[in-house]
Formats: sequence, C-alpha cells, structure tokens
Amino acid sequence: MNHSTDRPTRVTIVEVGPRDGLQNDPGAYPTNAKIAFIEALATAGLPVVEAGSFVSPAAIPQLADSDDVIRGLTPKDGVRYVALVPNERGYDRAVAAGVNSIALFASATEEFSQANLRASIDETFVRFQAVASRARADRRWIRGYVSVAYTCPYAGPTKPALVLKVASRLLDLGCDEIALADTIGVAEPGDIRQLLDVVLPAIPRERLALHFHDTNGRALANVDAALEYGIATFDGSAGGLGGCPYAPGAPGNLATELLVRSLAARGIETGVDAEAVRNAVTALRAQPKRLGADADD
Ligand code: COA
Ligand code: ZN
Repeated sequence: MNHSTDRPTRVTIVEVGPRDGLQNDPGAYPTNAKIAFIEALATAGLPVVEAGSFVSPAAIPQLADSDDVIRGLTPKDGVRYVALVPNERGYDRAVAAGVNSIALFASATEEFSQANLRASIDETFVRFQAVASRARADRRWIRGYVSVAYTCPYAGPTKPALVLKVASRLLDLGCDEIALADTIGVAEPGDIRQLLDVVLPAIPRERLALHFHDTNGRALANVDAALEYGIATFDGSAGGLGGCPYAPGAPGNLATELLVRSLAARGIETGVDAEAVRNAVTALRAQPKRLGADADD
C-alpha cells in the first residue's frame, strides 16, 4: 500500500468544464460567451483551464470553434490554458491558435479506443508519438489522459495493469502529467485504492491527476480515497457541467465548486473562489445557445 501519512495541504484543481463539460452539453454557446466563461474561471483562481479541443468538428460540434476561443483568450500570469489534440492535424490547429499546453487522450481499453478515436490503442500511439515529439520540440506542456481507467462502457471493469501500461506509454512520450479518468463515473473508493496500489509504485504521485464524473454520487468519496495516497491534482468542471453520453440524465463531472468546498472543509487549500466559479456558470447559462450545433441529439 502507498498510503501517505502526509495528506496534501494544497490541491491543484484542473478546470475541465469548458472542454469536457461543454462537449457533453446539448447545443453550443456563442464563442464570446465561452471566452468570457474561461477567463472568469481563471480569474476565480483556477490555475489550469481546459479551454478547447482540436478534434474533428463532426465528432464534437460543440467545440468546433475552439480555434477562435483559444485565439480570443488573453494570456494570464500563472494560468495554463490547455487544448485536446488527437492527431497532427489537431496539433497544427493548436499551434496556429497559440495554445501552449496540450492534452493527448488514450484509452485503457481497445473497445473505447475504437469508439472514441476510431483506432486501436497502438494506432493512437503512432499519432500521439508524432504530436508529442513536435510538442516537446516546441516546449509545450503535455497532459496525457487515460480514459476508462476503472470501467469501460463496452468492455466492463478495466484491469489496473492495462491502465498502468497505457499511462507508462504516455509518460514515455514525454507527458508532464497523467490524468486517470473515470470516464463514466462509476468508480468506488475501493477501485481508486486498487488502481493507485498498482500505479503508484511506477509513477510518481506528483505526476498524477485524477478525473472523476459524479454519475453515482461517489466522486467526492473517491477524492478522499486518493488524498490518502497523497494525490494532489484533481479535475473539476464548473457547475458540474457535462453529462455522461453513456448514461443519459446522469449528473455530469464532479463540480469544481463542490470540490473546492469539500477540500476546504478538510483544511486543504485550492486558491479557488467557489462563489466566483458559480457566478461564471450562471453568466454562461444566461447566454442564448446556438441550436443546431448538435441537431442530431
Ligand atoms: N481537426 C479537424 N478535423 C479533423 C481532425 C482534426 N484534428 N482530424 C480529422 N479531422 C477530419 C478529417 O479531415 C475528416 O473530415 P472529412 O470527413 O470532412 O473529410 C474527418 O475528420 C475524419 O478524419 P479521419 O482522419 O478519417 O479520422 P477518423 O474518422 O478516423 O477520426 C478522430 C479520428 C480522432 C479525428 C476522431 O475520432 C475524433 O475527432 N475523435 C475525438 C473524440 C473526442 O473528442 N472525444 C471526447 C474527448 S475524450
Ligand atoms: Zn471526463
């Protein structure tokens, strides 16, 4: 067991609402509303904000304007804006838009890899290798996601050894941080411990982030379990934006403001103003959505 006697006194929250949240939200907000939302989250004290995704616009129509969103952001000291990149085409867009941090996303299972990226895990790593070597040469910071780290909607429970293997491959590509994602939000604290017991001997906890969805209302309990292992980076989505495409009607990502308050109650600092996060969501929600962006939904 890797139980830490020193639970962190400070946690870094990675805000994923403008990306993971909005990509699962029906309809699309205007570009300027997204820019205002992202900047409000940075002003609320969030040090890392996922601001867009350079994937196929047909795959994620809600984020098709990520180029303009990223271009519209005013750089802010101490704030890292991140964009998802699936292939070299996406990397070209990232460079053109001027984003200095990117996120690659790999799957722990072949089934989810095919569904999400239309390629086998090995095929995705050929793409990631090309992107990562360019990103390293350009001195861009790289996050590597491992999707379906606990349960896959197609393959069932994910073996921790598979997660470690994919996480290690991402590290070998030069990723600065590895985010282990409970993509469908069904993990329990025991699953977190089981995975960290396997992963932590091989990957330093400083390089790990955990990403939870709150489908079963267990996300905060899962954070508590990970804190005991000294994990100090967690993803949050402002207002709990986002749902799970595989569980219609289910709650979305772990809400940033809930995470901030829960950590504060445990005496753990985040530097984030929960009220300001809430206000950013309220302001976004007041904007009219463009209908038809995902008219198939
Ligand atoms: N940016 C914009 N368009 C892109 C693109 C990119 N990075 N990569 C591919 N495309 C376009 C191609 O030009 C092509 O367009 P066309 O149909 O108009 O000719 C289309 O997307 C398909 O391209 P192809 O190379 O055949 O890719 P694919 O169909 O095998 O799909 C991905 C691969 C990775 C591009 C696609 O599955 C994808 O974007 N997935 C992202 C899913 C996602 O974001 N999930 C949520 C995050 S966890
Ligand atoms: Zn997610």
